[in-house]
Amino acid sequence: MSIPDPPLALLAELTHRCPLQCPYCSNPVELERAASELDTTAWCRVLDEAAALSVLQVHFSGGEPTVRRDLERLVEHAAQLGLYTNLITSGVLVDARRMDALAAAGLDHVQLSFQDSDDINADRIAAYRDGHAKKRAVAGLVRAAGLPLTINAVVHRQNLDRLEAIIDMAVELGAARLEVAHVQYYGWALRNRAALMPTRAQLERATELVLAARARLKGVLTIDYVVPDYYAQRPKACMGGWGRQFLNISPAGKVLPCHAAESISGLVFEKVGERPLAEIWADSEAFRRFRGTDWMPEPCRGCDRREIDWGGCRCQAFALTGQAEAVDPACGLSPDHAALLGIAASESAREAPDFVYRRIGGASARKPEPVEPA
Ligand code: SF4
Ligand code: FES
Repeated sequence: MSIPDPPLALLAELTHRCPLQCPYCSNPVELERAASELDTTAWCRVLDEAAALSVLQVHFSGGEPTVRRDLERLVEHAAQLGLYTNLITSGVLVDARRMDALAAAGLDHVQLSFQDSDDINADRIAAYRDGHAKKRAVAGLVRAAGLPLTINAVVHRQNLDRLEAIIDMAVELGAARLEVAHVQYYGWALRNRAALMPTRAQLERATELVLAARARLKGVLTIDYVVPDYYAQRPKACMGGWGRQFLNISPAGKVLPCHAAESISGLVFEKVGERPLAEIWADSEAFRRFRGTDWMPEPCRGCDRREIDWGGCRCQAFALTGQAEAVDPACGLSPDHAALLGIAASESAREAPDFVYRRIGGASARKPEPVEPA
């Protein structure tokens, strides 16, 4: 067994519980319930093993990680181990006392998600009343606690025309960084693809806006930009390559190469506690399956980008072709690429259907009350 380099970061999905119901949620469609979540002791052991594995960063995520009452304890434990700690949150459950407690526990950074710059549309997308106003207040709490703030904005056909206002909002709220991420279509987002897919014209305008804003806001706001696969010519290096830089731990302790890996049928994922995390990282069948380049089919195998994009996204290849080892259809060299472009063109041209909202125990097509659609 050759030993891979250690992962850079651990995504600790503490829970799938979340008061929001975003239709593009990156959690699996089959959400894990509270009763199956790892307890505080088990998560502390995971952090110990991650530090021993030379992980540098831990991202506390969910669902909504602040529903866990032991979050401060876990942040403190990670900080004591010398891990860089980042909280990825919707913010709607955070008050001043909680933010101060997290900062005192050693939290290094906060990523706060926004659904839109427009409060009515933002609350409609999240299916959470007054959520947008709460998020704006929480941005102030993060800054008051002296923590650096990144704003995450997932963009799609139903908010993309306000991208300029979203960028202005990030500046106004004192963010140092803004991540403008087009929806990636796995899990919940794949179910809602027709409701979310932008037109090519929307995408091109958004890209121009981001480039102009980057130049205008140099030194004020750093803007990361994730383009949608369906309009790409070459795929992204998903997760920096399978089993190369990141590992995910699900609320119940499953060790995953990425947040969507469970959508690939036929892969078996080990759980923390069954053997040391370092062994699972190096040796588990699921991590070895698509690590490196040996698994690649042609044309990836002979392609000069194979160690740049690492073959793109395995979850997307599986979702769209039924074969996880297929060439990612986002690649222009894939035999499935033309079909992908056709889907993007036809779905973005149709009237958007209602969202299927994310929900534990079953999807919901209901419209949130009493917020009116924009
Ligand atoms: Fe990447 Fe494979 Fe496409 Fe080459 S052929 S660009 S390695 S997905
Ligand atoms: Fe799983 Fe891309 S999301 S490999």
